[in-house]
Amino acid sequence: MKLQTLKDIDSLKDKRVIVRTDFNVPLDSEGNIRNDDRIKFALPTIEYLIAHEASQIIVMAHVGRPKLNEENLKTDKIAERLSELIGVDVDKVDNWGETGMPGAKIVMLENLRFHPGEKSKDEAEKEAFAKQLASLADIYVEEAFSNCHRDHASMTGVPKLIPGYVGLGTEKEYTTIEEAIESPKKPLVAVIAGAKADKLTAISNMLEIADHILIGGALAFALRSAQGYNVGSSMVDQEGLDSMAELVEMINKSNKVMLPNDAAIAHGFKADAKHKVVNLEDGIEQGWMALDIGPETIDNYSKVISEAESVLWFGPLGVFEWENFSSGTKKLGEAMVESGAMVIVGGGDSATAVKKFGLEKDMSHVSTGGGASLKIIEGKTLPAIEILKR
Ligand code: 3PG
Repeated sequence: MKLQTLKDIDSLKDKRVIVRTDFNVPLDSEGNIRNDDRIKFALPTIEYLIAHEASQIIVMAHVGRPKLNEENLKTDKIAERLSELIGVDVDKVDNWGETGMPGAKIVMLENLRFHPGEKSKDEAEKEAFAKQLASLADIYVEEAFSNCHRDHASMTGVPKLIPGYVGLGTEKEYTTIEEAIESPKKPLVAVIAGAKADKLTAISNMLEIADHILIGGALAFALRSAQGYNVGSSMVDQEGLDSMAELVEMINKSNKVMLPNDAAIAHGFKADAKHKVVNLEDGIEQGWMALDIGPETIDNYSKVISEAESVLWFGPLGVFEWENFSSGTKKLGEAMVESGAMVIVGGGDSATAVKKFGLEKDMSHVSTGGGASLKIIEGKTLPAIEILKR
């Protein structure tokens, strides 16, 4: 079984190609695009299709999580931006099921999630929508890496009906992360941080693969709390920890896992809150909360990173948006660059952090897909990728 890529297509000449993108871009209240990185991600694939003389390129995407047809989640402005970036007119079509398709070279469909079939749990409804989409084209291309963990009509339904291939960006994203896990350069250090206990599954999978696991973010202090430390008013996802008590036990016993010894704590969750550094053994008073790892932990973690040959980094170590609590994220990011290791950064917040600290260009790979890349790190498969293997 091999992942089918654009280059496996014999000829695109005169073929109608439907491309599933993840143009789920951040929008302001008027529906204006705040960041167009996800549109740029799909450009090489669309350019490839144009260069190989596809007769029509039908672009489809979801935007947000609409309940009804929400005006500010329409794809009009996205189609406009795509047209500006690619330098070719893009025709936006609203009710293509009723009006039929325009003949333009590039057509953008309305928000897929306006149709109940897209996310339907009713297989027949989902299939019927997939059939409508598949009838528009001869070939399907998956260029929505960050949505590949979703088993939706446009993601897994369409490629069951017409030949499906992975786009250039998604191929690179997927194979880079997959290879880093399947055959990592050793020592492999995983830096895993976040607010919620949902990262515990990724940590437990990393126990099998990585040589060292460095934990940060609210999760680190929650794990310290589970070990009996007094973490004051720090954020603790207790429900999450309780539901994964066995994992917590395993993580606590493993000698691969490192947790913070000290923390930058704040008196309240505010950028300019009173703040200081404490040793966690001394405990944190009520009213104070840990918002970053402390300097001793930064040193310890940096030493481990300096010996790494590869690093997987998922999640900022602290509240990096606020100067007083940004050191953990910034300094560990810098340590990764200095180490010369192959560094893969996953997750939206970590991607924003490396951009903020000017480290993006020095990272080997910054993934666009938070949920999707985390699934790979958890050792799970992506349904929208599996369907393209044959
Ligand atoms: C994302 O933004 O992570 C993807 O587009 C998936 O969106 P969803 O979480 O609304 O399914």
